[in-house]
Amino acid sequence: MKLDMYSTFASEYDEVIQDNIYNANLERPTLQSMLPTLVNLRVVDLGCGSGVYAQYLLAQGAAKVTCVDYAEEMIQLVARKAELAGVSNKVDAYAQDLSVGLPNEIDASADMVISPLMVHYLEDLNPLFADIHRILKIGGSFIFSTHHPFADFECSKSGNYFERELVQQEWDTVGKPVQVKFYRRSLTEITNALTQNGLVITQISEGEVDEKVKDMDSETYTYLSNNPNFIFIKCQKI
Ligand SMILES: C[S@@+](CC[C@H](N)C(=O)[O-])C[C@H]1O[C@@H](n2cnc3c(N)ncnc32)[C@H](O)[C@@H]1O
Repeated sequence: MKLDMYSTFASEYDEVIQDNIYNANLERPTLQSMLPTLVNLRVVDLGCGSGVYAQYLLAQGAAKVTCVDYAEEMIQLVARKAELAGVSNKVDAYAQDLSVGLPNEIDASADMVISPLMVHYLEDLNPLFADIHRILKIGGSFIFSTHHPFADFECSKSGNYFERELVQQEWDTVGKPVQVKFYRRSLTEITNALTQNGLVITQISEGEVDEKVKDMDSETYTYLSNNPNFIFIKCQKI
């Protein structure tokens, strides 16, 4: 789904997520704690945004990172950062709608696939999950995060937890109200899409907010310590 938040406001988004609460002090530390040793791995980052994960993966020793995002503006940020850091030879970045899967990626070519905070923008998870299974090497892992289904159920209009719903909200992430749309779905729908496409779930986390947030915003720290906001799932192709 093409959204202003990640196209018109790509640079603002990049700046905010460097050290904010939800991305820098909850989502990234939790997902990063679930990653295997990255040395020499070829990683594919789906919904890469401005490339904060690519920077981290390369710093941890990944050999090559392929970054894919719907927003051309995000891909330009990734390419510019790679050039400035002198690592353009280790980063491939291209724009594509991931709802159709990964037509440009070769079978059994990736050691690891990550997708932080992207899959809730897809109506049907199956085309992408089938292709993630196809492009992973045997033993390779897929690690992703998304909105926690219990947290999103608060915005259900139908009142039916098991019904997938398109939700429209206004977010203040970039310091001004921006409309976003995403899909709310049950945990069963997410896990079925993984297992029916051959991926074996090996770890689930509901996220752990960093202690630092206590000093940044004690109210939000208490809220995130008591309520799940994101869910993190690690799977393997066996
Ligand atoms: C919340 S941001 C996360 C960015 C990055 N993964 C991070 O953690 O910083 C979601 C990203 O998913 C991308 N996205 C949304 N729908 C997409 C789609 N259908 N295909 C590809 N990318 C998509 C957006 O453009 C945006 O960059």
